[in-house]
Amino acid sequence: MKKIRATITAIGKYAPERILNNYELEKMVDTSDEWIRARTGIFERHIAAKGEASSDMASAAFEDMQSRFKVDPEEIDLIIVATITPDMFFPSTAAIIQHNIGATNAFGFDISAACSGFVYALAIAAEFIENGRYKKVLVVGSDIMSSLTDYTNRDTCILFGDAASVALLEPTMQDNGILDYIMKMDGKGKDYLYVAAGGSKNPATHETIDKKMHYIYQEGKTVFKFAVSKMAEVSVDLLKRNSFKSKDIEMFIPHQANKRIIDACVSRLKLKDEQVMINIDKYANTTAATIPLGIVDAYDQGRLKKGDLLLMSAFGGGFTWGSVLMKWSL
Ligand code: COA
Repeated sequence: MKKIRATITAIGKYAPERILNNYELEKMVDTSDEWIRARTGIFERHIAAKGEASSDMASAAFEDMQSRFKVDPEEIDLIIVATITPDMFFPSTAAIIQHNIGATNAFGFDISAACSGFVYALAIAAEFIENGRYKKVLVVGSDIMSSLTDYTNRDTCILFGDAASVALLEPTMQDNGILDYIMKMDGKGKDYLYVAAGGSKNPATHETIDKKMHYIYQEGKTVFKFAVSKMAEVSVDLLKRNSFKSKDIEMFIPHQANKRIIDACVSRLKLKDEQVMINIDKYANTTAATIPLGIVDAYDQGRLKKGDLLLMSAFGGGFTWGSVLMKWSL
């Protein structure tokens, strides 16, 4: 009997209007456009307006999806939101998005897997569809990283941006869709990349605010090394167990955290430039949104075509990481 697979049938994206480029950052901290471009590949990033929340960006990305594809919100069964910048602790961002877009028949939840959020969410969505229980799953990657960023700290403020992107998953009996995935986690990573306060361990107090504990902290070099080795390792394992070689990949969409991480990963996977999607120069690291933004941009540029073998790979806080292999069907 043929297997039911989950495939992406519609996509959309949103990035806030305000753009913060490297020259503006030069005026805010001791940095330079030259350093940022050379060390990260980033030139500009979008920044959410005051009062704009992750649910607003996701809802705008959904509107973009509706302008491109015929999607009836009432037919959506499930909304999975990957975010580390939810609107509030509760209700879930998924509930707010459900209300905003009129997906009255959907249930949903948020998942916290930092930069791996979108690939984790794809894996979860695939399981719900493959077991035949649900037919339309909206997967959202939305993060307002500027809400966690200290714009007086040059170590981190150059790296992040805000954006949202969405993908609708539906069942297919064709020879396409999500073929396989591998997801991983190593909790030792909790010491290298985190926001210390605001949760149950260190609830917000004047002291936590004074100590800037609500901002992202990371040990950049450690994160860098893990990201390169883990993204490459999990991608090689995934290709191997599906009997594919690097040359079979038409499009590799890696998490966009640093162009040098991507380059090192690409070289380990022995891929050519034309097989790789890079848009970090325009958006910086938008956490859960980087991979779906890469999908939309690659599709818009005609670089992702029906039947293409697509490999996605991410690494993030936790540490979490994972890769998804799919045959593109749009
Ligand atoms: N502008 C100018 N100089 C800067 C700078 C900035 N924004 N940030 C750091 N520097 C300086 C450092 O102070 C250091 O100076 P020193 O040599 O006098 O001590 C020098 O540049 C090199 O710093 P270093 O931290 O070694 O740079 P790096 O090559 O490791 O790059 C990161 C730093 C953060 C860009 C890099 O480690 C990285 O991208 N890590 C992964 C981060 C990440 O992806 N996080 C998200 C999770 S997926």
